[in-house]
Order: sequence, then C-alpha cells, then structure tokens
Amino acid sequence: MPTNQPHMRPYEEEYANFTWETSRKELGYKDGDVINIGEYCTDRICRQGKGDKLALIWEGHSGEEKRYTFNDMRQLTNTIADFLQKLGIQPGERVCLFMDKVPELYFGFLGVLKMGAIVQPLFSAFGSESLLTRLDNAKTRAIFTQKKHLPKVRNITKDLPELKHIIVVDDDGLKPLRELEVAFHMDKAERIDKFDIYPSLAETPSVLHYTSGTTGQPKGAQHVHYSIISQYITAKYVLDLKDDDIYWCTADPGWVTGTSYGIIGAWSNGVTQCVLDAGFKAETWYKFIEKHKISMWYSAPTAIRALMKEGNEVVKKFDLSSLRHLASVGEPLNAEAVIWSKEVFGLYFHDTFWQTETGCIVISNYPGMKIKPGSMGKPFPGIEATVVDLKTHEPIEKKGIVGMIALKPGWPSMVRTYWNNESTYKSKFSKGWYHCGDRASIDEDGYYWFVGRDDDVINTGGHLVGPFEIESALLEHPAVAESAVVGKPDPVNMEVVKAFITLKPGFNSDKMLELEIMNFVRKKLSALAMPQEIEFVDSLPKTRSGKIMRRVLRAKEWGEEIGDISTLENDM
Ligand code: WT7
Repeated sequence: MPTNQPHMRPYEEEYANFTWETSRKELGYKDGDVINIGEYCTDRICRQGKGDKLALIWEGHSGEEKRYTFNDMRQLTNTIADFLQKLGIQPGERVCLFMDKVPELYFGFLGVLKMGAIVQPLFSAFGSESLLTRLDNAKTRAIFTQKKHLPKVRNITKDLPELKHIIVVDDDGLKPLRELEVAFHMDKAERIDKFDIYPSLAETPSVLHYTSGTTGQPKGAQHVHYSIISQYITAKYVLDLKDDDIYWCTADPGWVTGTSYGIIGAWSNGVTQCVLDAGFKAETWYKFIEKHKISMWYSAPTAIRALMKEGNEVVKKFDLSSLRHLASVGEPLNAEAVIWSKEVFGLYFHDTFWQTETGCIVISNYPGMKIKPGSMGKPFPGIEATVVDLKTHEPIEKKGIVGMIALKPGWPSMVRTYWNNESTYKSKFSKGWYHCGDRASIDEDGYYWFVGRDDDVINTGGHLVGPFEIESALLEHPAVAESAVVGKPDPVNMEVVKAFITLKPGFNSDKMLELEIMNFVRKKLSALAMPQEIEFVDSLPKTRSGKIMRRVLRAKEWGEEIGDISTLENDM
C-alpha cells in the first residue's frame, strides 16, 4: 500500500516556496533542451529502471484484459511513430485519434508525439458533423479509428481534401478497405526498439484539443511539449501519485482530463494505470477497483452522483480498501457528494478545477488540506489566481464577492493559441489576466466557491457543449425555422441540453417531430449534444438588433431572475 504522507508540503508552506524549477529538475529539463512528451513518458521511465513495471492494465467491455509494461509501451509507441513516418506524415501535421478507450488510443497519443506530429484526440461518440468541423479546421492529415467508427469517417472523407490516411486499428479483412484506408495492428506489428524521436523543443506544438465556446464553432486549444512540466508536478502533488499506486482516471482521452492526467500525468510519474473501456455501471466500476486494487481514483461529479444514486448497499458488496485518495473534475462537485464519499469510501473526493486551456489543475483541494465540502479549494502553488470584477476586470479585494475567475498567464501548460484563431485567444485576456469564463467567489480563508459559467456554454455531465454548434445543426432540419439552446437543471448531469424551436409554416409541433429532431442532432453531433427536451414556441426572445437572448430562456429554466432585459424586443 502506498504511504499516505502527501508529496506536497502543507499548503501555505508549499505556496510560499514553490517554483516550477522543482518540476524541471525532477524531469531533468534545462532551458533549450529537447523535450518530447512521448519520450518523457516511456524511454525516460525505462532508463530509471522501470522497464518491467506495468504501465497499462486495460480491460474491455466483456472483461478481456491486456497488460503492457513501460518497455512494451516504449517499443509500441516507437512502432506507431515509425508507421506514421513511413506513411509520409511530417512533423507538425495533425494526426487525429478517433477511437474508444483501446490501448491503441493511449499509445497512439504518445507515438504521434514521438514522431513530431500534433495529436488531435476526438471523442469517439462524435457524429460525422462534429468530426467534420474539427478535422476541417485542423486540416488533419491522418486519422486512427476503429471499424465501428469507420462509417462516420467515410461519410465526410470527400469534404476533407487534406485527409490522406485513415488508419484502421482492428480491420479483420472481411470487408475490403477503401481508398486512403490502411490497416494497422499494433499488437501484431513488429516492435521497434530504437526510433529517432523527434527533437521537439519546449514550444513545439504537441496536442490540439477542441473545446466549445458560446459563439462560433469549437476552437482547437493548441498545447506544447513544455506542458509536461505542469502535468507531471500537478499529478504528483494534487493527485498525489506515488510509485506503488494503481491509478484510475475515468476520463476519455477525447477530452483534456484523459490526456493531461489519463496519459501524461500518470506515465511521466512512472505510475501504473488502469483503463476500463466500458460504459458506466456502478457494480462494474466497484468491481474494477476491487479487482485491480486501485489506490488513486480521479473521476467526475456526474459519475459520483450516479454512484450515489445507486445507493450505499452496493458499495458494501466490494472490498474497496485499496483506495487511498480520490479526486474529481469537470463540473461543480456538490457538498452532498463530498460528504457521501467520506461516508461510504471513508475518503473525501477532492474537487479540482481546470480547463482545456489551462492544461493542468489550477485550483484544487490538496491531500492533507482541510476540505470545505462544496468548495473547489485554492490555487495550485505555481499559479496566481483571483476573481475580477465583472465590469472593470480589476481583481476584487473584498472577500465573498462574486467575480470572474482569472489567472496570471505564464504557467507551463497554458494553451498557446487557438488553432488559426488568434483573435479569440486574445479576447480571453484583460488587464494582464487570463479569464476562464467562470464565476466564483473567494472566502475569508482563501477557498474558491464556484458559481457558474460566465457564458452560454452548457456543461452536461462534465462535457462542454456549445449552443452555437447545436443551434446550427438544428437549423439544418427541414422543419426548424429558428432555434435557441440552453442548459436546464438535471439531478445527475447537472445540466442537460434543452432546445427552443420555432417551426417553419406547415409543420406541426408533435411528439414525433420532437423525437425526430432529437435523433437528427444525436446522429450529426453526439448524444451529449442531443436536446433532452424540445419546446416549440411561437417566437424567441431577441434583442432589438435581432440577437437571440439565451439567458432569458436559461433563467426561466433555472427559476432565476432574468436581469436586465431592456434591450428585449418581444415579450415571451
Ligand atoms: C470548464 C472546463 C479540465 C477538466 C475537464 C473540463 C468547468 C471544470 C470544475 C469544477 C466547477 C468546473 C468550468 C470550466 N469545470 N472543473 N471543479 N467545478 N466547474 O475541461 O471541457 O475545458 O471545461 O468545466 O466551467 O471552465 P473543459
């Protein structure tokens, strides 16, 4: 059992003394050195004598298991890097990963980085249109996928002239592959022991993660290899990863938690991690923890609330005594969930706050620190944070006042730009601070309390969905004249998507049409983006300039004050 003495010093002491130099030193990095995330997570760990240690314990939905040591992972990531090089992929080109949580996804991520290309992970539940938007924006050169997702890729290939290679990791040869498609079997491929890893430098682009905003299509948050300096030390200090931990990060690498902490954070610390490539079910999850003796568990509020709903009895059927530290991210972790976890697991879930753009945890509850259930905790020692006034953008000195969360730029894993969209990136800064787009207050003891998003983005089960993308998809349906999309309260997912629609003449607002439109969005975008409810209305509230006022609709759903509607054109 790993010890319970935290890596991090007591919070105040750590905050006062911390510098990123600690991380650079531990990773053996000096200014100007070559730094490649792929190398740091595999070859470097093997050089420390951990080649035979398990890196990945993978379990599929029918219980099948695969195990890989750090040396296996080192060689297989070389194999993938070599394969891409032989296909003609050039450093700096974008390679997308569009797969379920199979080992190829994890090793593909590091393999792409090892040969110098930019890795673009996309959630495998995305429909063709969500995929098209993101591949088109990134001008992606190659995509890794599985047979089951191939039809969604084939649907859009003709619209993607830059896409030259579709790599199928589980082709069984039963149906012929088409033009551009090529089979690659990681476990059967020749293992490459020595590969000339691309000599990336600190600022060489590494990962492109797409994230939704209020306006426009999703933006590609562009990270660099230097991000590992943040991810390594936050995984060590916040997740408290120890050499003998068995770690489980439940996030999908289609989202940033699944890469920053489901790949880079864990493996740069040389820690064994488990992956469960199966849907959520309380019994399956508890059994997984028991079977693999998981000691550190990083999950999300929606999952915790879903477990809570299943009740306390089911927990008692399993031996979960291996657990020693729990953390959560992605959406507000309500106090009840924190208290419940202490009751059933004997441990608090430690809430952590961060974003695709921050690349690493920036505000958090730390092992050993007093927990105030419902609070996100305090800024990470290397991060300067505050809340700024909604109008003046100046830091708010008085405690307990709600403002926007703002961070002083400059920590290693901060997003460097949005792909081909520097102007939106620049718009996130004001008066020397980076604005996260969230509202919070800070209490007398310096704890942060989340209030809500400062924009119209919907956070459903920890996944951000942009209203614009959904509204655009809705408008493509022949019956829809106008649409507005907002979040509505949900006991487990916190928020779910609700659409308000006005119909074109000749269409009737009935249940059939509602289901048809829901399905239309699900197929085009994803189940996450699918409205759980559609309300047909005669008109939508608009400003005098014709802009739809989502916040009026949202306020009604949440039973909140509508606020200033002096610019409203029509009365709802
Ligand atoms: C947004 C970022 C990086 C983790 C996965 C999400 C919300 C994140 C918390 C938290 C309340 C949270 C914020 C943030 N969020 N963590 N602990 N409490 N809200 O990454 O998709 O970029 O979403 O998720 O609104 O801005 P993301």
